[in-house]
Amino acid sequence: MGERALVTGGAGFIGSNLIAYLLRERPDWDVVCFDKLTYAGNLANLRLAEGNPRFTFVRGDVASSENVHALFAEHSFTFVFHLAAETHVDRSIQDAAPFVRTNLVGTAVLLEAARAAGVARFVHMSTDEVYGSIPAGSDESFDESSPLRPRNPYSATKAGADLLCQSYVTTFEMPVTIARPTNNYGSYQFPEKFLPLMITNLIEGRPIPIYGSGENLRDWLYVEDTCRALLMMAEKAEPGAIYNVAADELIPNIELARRVLSLMGQGPEMLRHVKDRPGHDFCYRLNAQRIREELGFTPSVGLDEGLSRVVAWYRENESWWREIKTGEYVKYFGRQYPEIAGGSQ
Ligand code: NAD
Ligand code: DAU
Repeated sequence: MGERALVTGGAGFIGSNLIAYLLRERPDWDVVCFDKLTYAGNLANLRLAEGNPRFTFVRGDVASSENVHALFAEHSFTFVFHLAAETHVDRSIQDAAPFVRTNLVGTAVLLEAARAAGVARFVHMSTDEVYGSIPAGSDESFDESSPLRPRNPYSATKAGADLLCQSYVTTFEMPVTIARPTNNYGSYQFPEKFLPLMITNLIEGRPIPIYGSGENLRDWLYVEDTCRALLMMAEKAEPGAIYNVAADELIPNIELARRVLSLMGQGPEMLRHVKDRPGHDFCYRLNAQRIREELGFTPSVGLDEGLSRVVAWYRENESWWREIKTGEYVKYFGRQYPEIAGGSQ
C-alpha cells in the first residue's frame, strides 16, 4: 500500500525539490504540501507537482494549532518532512520575531500534532549552522555529538527546534530523525541567497556583493542530494538518529564568486566588497561519516557539475526569478493562492 507524506515548507526551495523528488522516486506515495506561502513560498515552485493526482497543496501556518489540527484531521500521514522555516540569516538580524514564531513555536506545534497522530517517522530539517562557527585557521570539524553553539537569531531558533525534536525522542520515544545539512543550492532557490543572487545579478548586469573579505567558507550541497538523504533518513534511519549531510566542497565565498564569474564569462570588475554581516559565521565544517557508514549516503553531484546546472537553470527560467526580484509575484497574494486550512491564522 502507498504511504502518505507531509512536506511542510514545500513551496520553498528545498521543499519543492523534495516534493518533485518524492513524487518521482516513490510512485505509490501521496504527498501533501503544507505551506503558509510567506514571501519565500511560491506556488510556481510546485509546477512539476501541479495536476498530479497524488499531490495535494494545503495552505497553512505551522505555528497555528488551528491550521495544523485541521491538517491532521483531514489526512493521516506515515512520514512528516518538516522543512517550513524562516531561513535567511540577514532577515533574522533585522527582525527575529518571525523566526521565533515559525522555527520554534511552529516546530513545537507540529511535533505535538504528529505525536498525537502517531506518525511512523518525523524527519526534521535542521542545519549545520546550529553548531556555530569554526574560526579562521582552525581545521576543527563538527560531528553529530558536537555542542550546539548557534550565533545568529536564525541559527538560534533552528537549534531550539533541533533540541525540541530531541526532547520528543527521549520523553515520548517519538521516531524523529534530524538532518543537519550544509548550504544547499539548485533550482527554485529564492534569489536573496548568495548563489542565485550572484547568477541573477550578473544576468541583469549588476555586481556581486561580497560580505567583508569574502574569505568565509561554505560547503555547497546540491539540492537533489539533500532530497535523497532525507528520503534515506525517513526509510532507513534508526529513530532518534541525527545526521550531518555535507558535500565536502568547502570553498571561500570569493572563490565561489570567481567560479560563477568564469562560468558566466564575466570578469572580476563585477565583484563588490560590501559591509560584512554582523557576527558573520566564518565556517561550518561537518564530519558526515555517520550518514555515509549507516545509510550509505554520499553526494553525487560535485560543485563544478552543480554550478553548471544551476547557472543553466537560472538562465532558462528568467521569468521565474524576474517576477520575484521585481516583487511581481506578490500580486498573487490573496487572489490566486488557496485559503488557509482550518480558517484564519
Ligand atoms: P525557503 O525559505 O526557500 O522556504 C521556506 C518555506 O517555508 C517557504 O515556502 C515558506 O512559505 C514556508 N514557511 C515559512 N513559514 C511558514 C509557516 N509559519 N508555516 C508554514 N510554512 C511556512 O527555505 P529552504 O532554503 O528551502 O529551507 C528549507 C529548510 O531547510 C529550512 O528548515 C532551513 O532551515 C533548512 N536548511 C536550509 C539550507 C539551505 O541551504 N537552504 C541548509 C540547511 C538547512
Ligand atoms: O549552512 C546552511 C544555511 O545556509 C541554511 O541553514 C540557511 O537557511 C541558508 O540561508 C544558508 O545560510 P548562509 O547564511 O550560509 O547563506 P547565504 O546564501 O545568505 O550566504 C552564503 C554566504 O555568502 C555567507 O557567508 C554570506 C555570504 N553572502 C551572502 C549574501 C546574500 C555574501 O557575501 N553576499 C551576499 O549578498
